[in-house]
Amino acid sequence: MDDLDVLVTSNAENGFEERIIEAEENYGDAEIENVLRPKSMDGYVGQDKVKDNLAVFIASAKMRSDALDHVLLYGPPGLGKTTLAHIIATELGSQLKVTSGPAIERAGDLAAILTNLNKNDVLFIDEIHRLNHSVEEILYPAMEDFTLDFIIGKGPSARSVQLPLPKFTLIGATTRVGMLSSPLRDRFGVICRLENYSIDELTEIVKRSSEKLGIPIEDLAAREIAKRSRGTPRIANRLLRRAHDYAIVLKHDLVLLSDAQKCLSMLEIDELGLDSTDKKLLTAMAKKFNGGPCGLDTLGATINEDSVTIEDVYEPYLLRLGFIARTPRGRVLLRRGYEHLGLIMPEKNIGLYSIYEEQNNED
Ligand SMILES: Nc1ncnc2c1ncn2[C@@H]1O[C@H](COP(=O)(O)OP(=O)(O)OP(=O)(O)O)[C@@H](O)[C@H]1O
Ligand SMILES: [Mg+2]
Repeated sequence: MDDLDVLVTSNAENGFEERIIEAEENYGDAEIENVLRPKSMDGYVGQDKVKDNLAVFIASAKMRSDALDHVLLYGPPGLGKTTLAHIIATELGSQLKVTSGPAIERAGDLAAILTNLNKNDVLFIDEIHRLNHSVEEILYPAMEDFTLDFIIGKGPSARSVQLPLPKFTLIGATTRVGMLSSPLRDRFGVICRLENYSIDELTEIVKRSSEKLGIPIEDLAAREIAKRSRGTPRIANRLLRRAHDYAIVLKHDLVLLSDAQKCLSMLEIDELGLDSTDKKLLTAMAKKFNGGPCGLDTLGATINEDSVTIEDVYEPYLLRLGFIARTPRGRVLLRRGYEHLGLIMPEKNIGLYSIYEEQNNED
C-alpha cells in the first residue's frame, strides 16, 4: 500500500457518504471555515454590486454615527452570507451578536437578546426564515421603532408595556427568501442577493485560501478546482483541502495541477463539478424514463434517494446548468443533459421541451 492508497482509505473511513460537493455545511467544515473566512471587504472576493452598495451605506452610517439600516442577505448555501455579516460588523466597528432562527424558541429568548444589545451593535440572525411566529411579532416593533412590546399578566389585568431598545442593526441571512413573511421582509432597508461566483473569482478564492492553509497553489491547479466547484466558495475550499492532502502526502511545497487532478478524479468529480450521484440521476432519467417526464418520488425510488433530497440538494445545480427542467408533468432531461452523458436525445423528445431549453439558455 503506498501513500496515496492510505489517503484514499482514510478519506473513505472519514465518511465520504458526506457529499464533497454539497453546498451546505458538512460535519467538520465549521472550524476550518472560520480560518478561511475573509475578515475584510478587500478579502471578500466577488459580489461587487452588493459590496459597492454596502460600502456606501456603511460609510454613511459611520459618518452619521448611527446604526446601519437592517440588512437581509439571501442566496444559496455556501456563497458567503455569514462571512459578509461578520465583515459588515467589522467595517462598522460594531460588536456582533450571533444567533439563528431555530435557536430562538420563545418570544422571551429574543427579548433577552434584544435588551442586552448596546447602541449600534449588530445582531446577526442566521436562517431567519425559521423564526416562529410569536418571535417574529416581537421583532417587528424592535426593528421599526426600536421598542420592545410585551404584555404582562393575563386576562383583564393584562397590560402592554413598551421598553425602549438601543438603535441596533439586524442582519438576517436566509437561503429561502420566499419563506420569509412579507411584514418581516419589508422591515429590511437593505436587501442583498448573493450570486454564484465566476470561475475567475473562485480561482482567486482558492489561491487565497491555499495560502492561509500554509501551502500555496499553482494557478492552473486553483483554476481546475474552481471549475468544478459549482459556483460555490464553500465547495471550492473543501476540494482545496482534499488537494492539500495529496500535496502533503506527496511532500510538495506547492499544490500542483497533478495533485488537484488526482484528487478530483479520485473523488469522481467531473469537469462541471458533477459527482456520481448526479450522474446516476441523469442516467436514470435518460435510460429508465426515456428523458421523462417523471415524478420526483419515482425518480427517488429508482436511485435510492428521498425526493426531498433530490429537490433540495441535487436538482438546483442541474437546473442551473440547463440539464433538466421542471415541467407541470414532472422532471425532464434536456438536450444538454443528454450531451453531457454522451447520449443522444430520443427522436420523440426533440423540440418537445425547447421552451425550457431557451429559458435555461438565457440564465
Ligand atoms: N466572497 C468570498 N470570498 C472568499 N471566501 C468566501 C467568500 N464567500 C464565502 N467564502 C468562503 O466560503 C465559506 C462559506 O461561506 P459562508 O459560511 O459565509 O456561507 P453562507 O452563505 O453563510 O452559507 P450557509 O447558507 O450554509 O450559511 C467560508 O468559509 C468562506 O471562507
Ligand atoms: Mg451561513
